[in-house]
Amino acid sequence: MKKLWTRLLGHHSWIRRFGTFREREQAGVLNRPNYAYGMLRAADTAKYFGHSEVTVCEFGVATGYGLTAMTELAELITAETGVKFRIYGFDTGAGLPPPNGHADHPELWNPGDFSMGDVDGLRKRLSGKAELIIGDINDTIDGFTNKLTEKAPLGFVSIDVDIYSGTVSSLRALHNVKPQVYLPAVSFYFDDVNSYFNNFACGELKAIHEHNAARPLRPIDQDRSLPGRRLDAAQAWYANMYVCHLLDHPTRNVPRKREAVSLEDHMKLAANL
Ligand SMILES: C[S@@+](CC[C@H](N)C(=O)[O-])C[C@H]1O[C@@H](n2cnc3c(N)ncnc32)[C@H](O)[C@@H]1O
Repeated sequence: MKKLWTRLLGHHSWIRRFGTFREREQAGVLNRPNYAYGMLRAADTAKYFGHSEVTVCEFGVATGYGLTAMTELAELITAETGVKFRIYGFDTGAGLPPPNGHADHPELWNPGDFSMGDVDGLRKRLSGKAELIIGDINDTIDGFTNKLTEKAPLGFVSIDVDIYSGTVSSLRALHNVKPQVYLPAVSFYFDDVNSYFNNFACGELKAIHEHNAARPLRPIDQDRSLPGRRLDAAQAWYANMYVCHLLDHPTRNVPRKREAVSLEDHMKLAANL
């Protein structure tokens, strides 16, 4: 039946209907495949390093489509991996702050774009599955960063604030002095890095470049594992995926305490990395 089905309706149709969670994620057929990928990376990495909880967040929530998707994906990924999620969403609630010069892409954005509207309504819809942190990220981020814990290290971040200034503030999530409050590699999705107007002197790309110059032990690099062996070698969102490498994390400096393994055992141990 599979052969006939896939010949008539395509491989994706089969996977959408009958695939396992990981097959659906790999085929990119889940809602917000970019978030599914980043959150699964976070859960798998957390598990590999012995954590049962992980923190994820979205900077720039607007009306909440992304954050709601995160809560739904969290349930699926916890069922798959056993790793639980703490989910946070950051937004002014009132849309984009006024752009401050060319770096904030005033040719694309206006103040007040993407207002959340009914903040309490969104809180109600999230029903405690994600925490909304309302205010300019510049004012709210340090409280969040300082409260990150080793128990639930930061593992996935979506940056969808569109403009340079908000991205600089969001990247302060990486400023906790204790590397153990992060997974050794944190998956990032940057929404605005590959449109015709994007460039390294403006917007999210400028913020990434400045972060990398200031913090050589926590570089943000493109996710070099995509597309890997995924069914679609050319999904547009692959180019938006980055990884912050915590090179000051103990696990990236001293080998883990374990018996030497064979190549075969290593493949099993790191199957989902
Ligand atoms: C494109 S929207 C987010 C869309 C949302 N991620 C989704 O997938 O549905 C961008 C959001 O970033 C928020 N934003 C931009 N700069 C901000 C800042 N400095 N502080 C808080 N929120 C900010 C705006 O309020 C706006 O709602």
